[in-house]
Amino acid sequence: MSDSFGCVILAAGKGTRLKLNDPKPLVPLMGRRLVDYAIESLRDFMVDNAGNGEVNLVIGHEKEKVQEHSKKSANKFNVEVGFSIQEKQLGTAHALKCYFDQNEKASKFDYTVIMCADTPLISGEILSELYEALKKDNLDGVAASFETKDPTGLGRIIRCDKGFRIVEHKDANKDELLINEVNSGMYIVKTSYITKHLSNIKSENAAGEFYLTDLFQENSNVKPRVFENEKTFLGVNDLAQLEQIENLLRRRKARSLRDAGVRFIDSRHVYIDEDVEVGFGSLIYPSVNLFGSTVIGKDSIIEIGSILTDSKVGANTVIKAYSTLEEAIVGDEAAIGPYARLRPKADVGSKSKIGNFVEIKKSKLAEGVKVSHLSYVGDAEIGEDVNIGCGFITCNYDGANKHITKIGKGSFIGSDTQMIAPVTLGEECYVASGSTINQDIPSGGFAIARGRQVTKEGMARKFIKKK
Ligand code: UD1
Ligand code: MG
Repeated sequence: MSDSFGCVILAAGKGTRLKLNDPKPLVPLMGRRLVDYAIESLRDFMVDNAGNGEVNLVIGHEKEKVQEHSKKSANKFNVEVGFSIQEKQLGTAHALKCYFDQNEKASKFDYTVIMCADTPLISGEILSELYEALKKDNLDGVAASFETKDPTGLGRIIRCDKGFRIVEHKDANKDELLINEVNSGMYIVKTSYITKHLSNIKSENAAGEFYLTDLFQENSNVKPRVFENEKTFLGVNDLAQLEQIENLLRRRKARSLRDAGVRFIDSRHVYIDEDVEVGFGSLIYPSVNLFGSTVIGKDSIIEIGSILTDSKVGANTVIKAYSTLEEAIVGDEAAIGPYARLRPKADVGSKSKIGNFVEIKKSKLAEGVKVSHLSYVGDAEIGEDVNIGCGFITCNYDGANKHITKIGKGSFIGSDTQMIAPVTLGEECYVASGSTINQDIPSGGFAIARGRQVTKEGMARKFIKKK
């Protein structure tokens, strides 16, 4: 039978050193929140080991916000989630006790996996390696450790002939302070071992806290498992560490896209969030920002300085330099920009062409539409193959309400025209340049709405003053 896992994320602390408004588990990182990384890794760990179980977060500081987000996150990663409340942060052992006291199921899982919310580089694979170490020697518990030049603030691993102990920095004597092997704060322990020992933990130490690390004792059937790469365990405790971790994650993201066939001109200067997808054969220029849930299809090109947030771009499409897309959709074989701005609910069809200084908001453009220069299209429905000239404006707002402009397929709209919405044009209409349209036009209609030209021969001289 497969093993079952109670996975606990300790996330009740405040994270004071971060100097951010968000509670620590909700610190933004690569388009996600910090806690999402722990939830995803625990999910991967359970899947890798064909195990079943549940993720439980011990929360305290701003618990409502943390709970609300974590539920959504667990849903996204397809894991069962529960919560334990720790009103006062009396230490990591007390946090774990809150979990066992408040969840009947907790003591029924074969193993308890414990990690913190603030170490986003720990992957499911690392958790699996830790679990392997436990299984190999049939241990009651393992702690992940690593060696570091600067162990300041971290618990020191005291290896014994049998078992090991962890001494917190504050409690360590001179000799213990010299030890470079430290505790990462990630553990896998037989649940029966925890329930036997957890309530014996005392708070007689320098911090007056209940230390979870006291679970591990000399002569017990426990071992540390030392990991090579100390970066894996980097935690987010201040803004410098947040930036360092973000840089590592960004490089990792670019690497994984490159491995999947995405070409970069210089991947050191792109900013791509964790959940962004880019198709095989696409090319990304420097200074490109792909944020949130953005998805780019195959063989597309995203040119320098473009910023795409929560947007979807098809295959074989070019987003030219310095364009901005926000919650926008662009089809296949389209060309956008340079300097185009697609705002929320801009939905641009395949083979369309949106040129420089064109702004599109909440509008659906069918296949093959051209809006090539200096225009505003808002609250509009534009049919197939419509050609819109330079300097076109939908006057969609009357000061109180927004109104819709509809232009039927195959229409031609001359330059410098305005549509005073609500207004509807049928199919294959023709609007003369310089027109201000405020009445519907039936299919096949031609409209011209501008003052007639008056020409007076020879009169120019009167206005051109000679020096
Ligand atoms: C802990 C370990 C230390 C290890 C270090 C690695 C203990 C006693 N020490 O120290 O050996 O080297 O992590 O980073 O465990 N938390 C709660 N409730 C509490 C206290 C903490 O939920 O009452 C949560 C925090 O939000 C955090 C995690 O537990 O996510 C770790 O707590 P923290 O105070 O950062 O422990 P450290 O002093 O760093
Ligand atoms: Mg810490």
